[in-house]
Amino acid sequence: MTKSVSLTLDGNSVELPVVVGSELEKGLDISQLRSATGCITLDPGYGNTGSCQSAITYIDGDAGILRYRGIPIEQFEQSPNFIEVCWLLIFGSLPTEAEYADFSERLTRHAMLDESMKHHFQGFPTQAPPMAILSAMINTLSCFHPDMIEMDSDDKFITAAARLISKIRTIAAFAYRSSIGRPYNYPNPDLLYVTNFMHMMFSLPHAPYETDEIVRLAFNLVLILHADHEQNCSTSTVRLVGSSGANLFASCAAGVCALWGPLHGGANVAVLDMLEQIHQGDLSVEEYMRLAKDKNSGIRLMGFGHRVYKNFDPRAQMLQKVAEQLLTHLKINDPLLEIGKRLEDIALNDPYFVERKLYPNVDFYSGIILRALGIPTNMFTVVFAMGRMPGWIAHWREQQQEGSRIGRPRQIYTGPTLNDYVPRDKRGWKSVSDEDILRPASRQNFEF
Ligand code: SDX
Repeated sequence: MTKSVSLTLDGNSVELPVVVGSELEKGLDISQLRSATGCITLDPGYGNTGSCQSAITYIDGDAGILRYRGIPIEQFEQSPNFIEVCWLLIFGSLPTEAEYADFSERLTRHAMLDESMKHHFQGFPTQAPPMAILSAMINTLSCFHPDMIEMDSDDKFITAAARLISKIRTIAAFAYRSSIGRPYNYPNPDLLYVTNFMHMMFSLPHAPYETDEIVRLAFNLVLILHADHEQNCSTSTVRLVGSSGANLFASCAAGVCALWGPLHGGANVAVLDMLEQIHQGDLSVEEYMRLAKDKNSGIRLMGFGHRVYKNFDPRAQMLQKVAEQLLTHLKINDPLLEIGKRLEDIALNDPYFVERKLYPNVDFYSGIILRALGIPTNMFTVVFAMGRMPGWIAHWREQQQEGSRIGRPRQIYTGPTLNDYVPRDKRGWKSVSDEDILRPASRQNFEF
């Protein structure tokens, strides 16, 4: 197998070692490129650039393979247990019974928020985007747990991980309850992870919310399928923020912000909006597909396409099955599911999508499931974040353990070459004193 490649530029040569992964993926190590040749690589969107070596998740986009620490995601379908997968992703192996019991107890112990955090929720407008609240409140955890900022022991790290995985539910539920003017439901230590979240979201003082076993298992699988996805935009964000030495809460809060984007985790909301638009008759399926193929329309087939998968996203296939089983179990006839399946059928036979290898991704069916569970659309990406939290934590820890350098990409400058500052009076300004310039147009004309 080739051990290195040589590159010569303007008479300067460099040997670039070939790095080979456990699944025989190859990468050129360019860490000496700039010092040897003076040049850098350029790869907007990093489609050809690896940021790290990682042992957490493996994706083969051509074969449609996704494995967590080597275990194919399909194998979690039988008895889905999100907390077990959290441990697997973060610590590298399936938990022993004692490890699981300890972690589960920490999740229960750390489900509550500091009582004074409740005032933050009342400070947000009722229409505030839940992802903005989630990111703010996850960052706020570092204010209430300053001992977690310096992660100087394994036990501290396990507690910080438990706090994030447990409290993200409470933050999400409190944000929802505050937005609809309902009383908060405190976490109930007698309930399992998903059941506790549904209780906090939907129980009423006189009517505790009951989650049946089929729903609980389906929701566990949905969270598992969102749990990690190697160097996606939000996980890369967590790694980059963490590389500066920022604490775990700050890094995951940044991950929430990246996930919010409609090209990333926000796509699950955009898919529902798209399906609703078609269902309401604003656009027919055929019209929508035509616009999705028209570059000038600004419309894309949301929930379709992927930077890595050039075959079916295995998660989308599993989520379609969950959607069908859950809707049958709940006796829900959701027309959006049929519209989604029609869009998929058309796209999979349309040369535009086939040539570009565009298939349904994780976001295409997840919204239909969450809608069936009663989760409001504006909370879909929050649930995605709940699922992705263990992945973010695992990558943050892997990077901390590697002791990697601060992430600081280079650039190719294309701006003006050397020129000079021109004083204001030489630029035709009449008043050149700072006071004149800064005087507000009118003392009354302030906006919030
Ligand atoms: C997630 O990275 C991850 O792992 C992410 C994720 C995870 O688990 O973390 O899997 C979660 O974010 C899934 C993706 C959710 N986003 C969407 O569903 C939004 C719709 N999809 C696209 O915008 C797009 O496919 C991306 C953003 C997902 C991927 O974008 P790329 O890799 O930059 O691809 P591209 O934009 O360069 O598209 C290549 C071609 C272009 O056409 P040409 O210029 O070659 O003619 O395919 C077209 C695009 O116009 N295209 C689409 C399309 N996606 C790509 N055309 C119509 N509809 C689409 N959805």
